[in-house]
Amino acid sequence: EQIEKGGYEHFMLKEIYEQPSVIKDTYRGRLLANKGIIQMAGVEDNLEKFLNAERIIIVACGTSWHAGLVAEYIIEEFARIPVEVEYASEFRYRNPIINKEDVVIAISQSGETADTLAAIKLAKENGAFVFGVCNVVGSSISRETHAGAYTHAGPEIGVASTKAFTTQITILTLLALRLAKANGKMTNSDYQRYLLELELIPEKVAEALKTNDVAKEIAKIYKDAPNCLYLGRGYNFPVALEGALKLKEISYIHAEGYPAAEMKHGPIALIDESMPVVIIAPNKGHYDKVVSNIQEIKSRSGKIIAVVTKGDTQVKALADHVIEIPETTEALTPLLTTIPLQLLSYHIAVMRGCNVDQPRNLAKSVTVE
Ligand code: G6P
Repeated sequence: EQIEKGGYEHFMLKEIYEQPSVIKDTYRGRLLANKGIIQMAGVEDNLEKFLNAERIIIVACGTSWHAGLVAEYIIEEFARIPVEVEYASEFRYRNPIINKEDVVIAISQSGETADTLAAIKLAKENGAFVFGVCNVVGSSISRETHAGAYTHAGPEIGVASTKAFTTQITILTLLALRLAKANGKMTNSDYQRYLLELELIPEKVAEALKTNDVAKEIAKIYKDAPNCLYLGRGYNFPVALEGALKLKEISYIHAEGYPAAEMKHGPIALIDESMPVVIIAPNKGHYDKVVSNIQEIKSRSGKIIAVVTKGDTQVKALADHVIEIPETTEALTPLLTTIPLQLLSYHIAVMRGCNVDQPRNLAKSVTVE
């Protein structure tokens, strides 16, 4: 097992550090940035189905559901196709409306999650085209779907999903760009710019991994906190959910993710000097609004841990701690902002003496409902 961990103390840490290479493995051969080409056989063979889709329904569970939420923002923004994201467990039991023109995307690391598998079967029975995004080759979901694209994350052993999440987002970004190119909803120059930027993501993730020491220092300060709030807006709202999930899964600290602007409708009541608030504030999108959210937290003495773009000054002046990530285009920020949140959870869990790779009560693959 020590050999399998490749010198890392835990599988989770190894898997966090593998992200630059597995993201590259996931787009290798599919993203030809200089030629302006994205090619994925499962998408090319079924392009008409995607282009004729009245909407895309994404079904998934857990972290994969969070990747689906990021994809909703990306697909709607790039390709202007309506997207709904559903927990597979809710979808399968609520007599959902599924039309033949719908495309259903099932996202699953293991490819074995019982609820996701059942949602796929239901979608197929109703005539929808089902596309899978799985990591495990030959898994039940990959066999049950009409077509798909594998994430090339390699085996993920840690129960808390890390590299599966970023590779799922990579695939779904490629899909969104391919569809946008095909339906003409994105200008050629934007398309080209995104392709080049996506190609740079592995190096930027490697850069983001250098936040490890800062994350460890912050972990020391907050490891005994009973609660933690995660806030983000737009593309980074799902990252806030995922950051909170990572913390609760492995450290057993109660954590909640919220869209930053919703804070005033509830979570703000919880903020006092003992409440750490992790806020994702890259210098893109609704930055100014996030800054005012930070001011609201500060005026209530909450402790602010902010993930910011390198060179940021405004948030730095307000926050108790900042974690700097490299600059990228707004839609791709989740691939970077998620990295320090994984590291923060990891260090907190280790410091609390938790079983990081096999947290209590959780399973890597949930094959029962
Ligand atoms: C379990 C795992 C999570 C995972 C979820 C969905 O809860 O512990 O890490 O996100 O199942 O799994 P899947 O294999 O379908 O992505």
